[in-house]
Amino acid sequence: MTKIAICIGSACHLRGAHGVLGAFSALLEKYRLSAEIDLEGNFCQGRCTEGVVIKIDGEIITHVSQENVFAIFQEKVLKEGKQ
Ligand code: FES
Repeated sequence: MTKIAICIGSACHLRGAHGVLGAFSALLEKYRLSAEIDLEGNFCQGRCTEGVVIKIDGEIITHVSQENVFAIFQEKVLKEGKQ
């Protein structure tokens, strides 16, 4: 099962982690992947200046925002486009 973890530490929270979480959640619903992908919150990843920080199957992705969630989702979850 793919696991998406969104940092909900205070720095990432201020940078919009809640919105990023909501955007991923909406995409999982839209693509009917809620049963196959685990979406969870994570504690501070120690990269606060690069937030929002997320992890997909252990791979850290920085500078995530509501604007680029879909591109990341396509590339890392749907595995479309560049690998
Ligand atoms: S609060 Fe997200 S990396 Fe520190």
